Amino acid sequence: MLQGKRILLIVAGGIAAFKALELIRRLRERGAAVRCILTEAGARFVTPLSLQALSEDRVYTDMFSLTDESEMGHIQLSRDADLLVVVPATANILARMAGGLADDLAATVLLATDKPVLAAPAMNVRMWTHAATVANVEILKTRGVTFVGPNDGAMACNEHGPGRMSEPEEIVAAIESMLATNRPLAGKRALVTSGPTREAIDPVRYISNHSSGKQGHAIATALARLGAEVTLVSGPVAVVDPPGVRTIHVDSADQMLAACLAAGAVDIAVCAAAVADWKVTAPSGAKIKKKVGAQPPPLELSPNPDILATLSKPGPRRPALVVGFAAETENLVANAIDKRVRKGCDWIVANDVSPAIGTFGGERNTVHLISTVGVENWPTLTKGEVAGRLAARMALHLAGPRSAAAAE
Ligand code: PMT
Repeated sequence: MLQGKRILLIVAGGIAAFKALELIRRLRERGAAVRCILTEAGARFVTPLSLQALSEDRVYTDMFSLTDESEMGHIQLSRDADLLVVVPATANILARMAGGLADDLAATVLLATDKPVLAAPAMNVRMWTHAATVANVEILKTRGVTFVGPNDGAMACNEHGPGRMSEPEEIVAAIESMLATNRPLAGKRALVTSGPTREAIDPVRYISNHSSGKQGHAIATALARLGAEVTLVSGPVAVVDPPGVRTIHVDSADQMLAACLAAGAVDIAVCAAAVADWKVTAPSGAKIKKKVGAQPPPLELSPNPDILATLSKPGPRRPALVVGFAAETENLVANAIDKRVRKGCDWIVANDVSPAIGTFGGERNTVHLISTVGVENWPTLTKGEVAGRLAARMALHLAGPRSAAAAE
């Protein structure tokens, strides 16, 4: 809930501005007060009247308006807010924010504010991947601006790729996470692995699997929402980096292990990545040539390091709670019980990855939570719900033996 929270929504000029209307409706449903600043370009896509009708507040547009300044100065607009949200965060407004411009009311308020800022980018895929935008986003991130999205998908310009603005419910979730007061994991550090690994055969070929990163990324988001300082080590995925989470991108299992160890001491480790069990012993430095009539080249494999087992090893650096996943296509629970013992983790989350079930890449998951106490069968949930439940259980576990026993 966002009861009593005050959101200052900055609506900039992009086709996705229409989603601001739905966002206002959802924020108000949750009890937030919404006040809008509409840029000149934004007013070409949505009218001040629509924003005013939905927010039930006046809409601010002009920095040099005597009425605006006398009734509510640009500094006061930011002072009165708990959070500033830029939606859509166009390439232009991101560039103006990064450059510290104050050439209209929106940019001036963003420059003058000391409140947290959330930006929901939306733009053509080439604008999003342009070196200038990449650099601007990097600058803003280092200054503490939080980003939600953009998503990958079809865009209004008939192109496909990253640049599509997050849906209103995703933006609401990011806002709730930034303004959450119930943060039982505040002061705790968490490490999450997610996605597949890629094991090189040669510079152009690799061994990998179908993991999309959706489950692991959702867990990182859920832990951050409860206040944990989260490091996410992700293999190559198309899903976006979760807001408010430090994400480290890797390719291979060796790199994933090194990034996990470099993350330092943590209280919680969750290994949701689908790590390749084997790597090619001696990947070729050059593309292996296909010779007409010759046999395919043999691939000699050697085992990858086991990240979960490494993190679970007893010792002063062992996290207080280590959670693994078990991806099985048969004897799900029995195999997962064995796996938990073999790897030495505290809990294991078993899920069926048979193609017919659609766990890899899908939106939902049916899991069994296995601990030393026993097996809990959870109903089919969205991956976000699985993550939310799991994070809540971890918070309860870390809160102390009495709360944990009640939960288990
Ligand atoms: O990414 P999605 O498309 O959302 O799909 C989610 C998922 C199916 C990938 C996820 O829910 C899941 O099951 N992740 C674990 C996949 C896996 O590799 O399972 P496993 O049973 O092979 O491995 C058991 C555990 O050991 C896992 O926690 C794994 O991260 C870990 N492991 C495995 C091998 C290795 N070398 N190092 C490891 O840390």
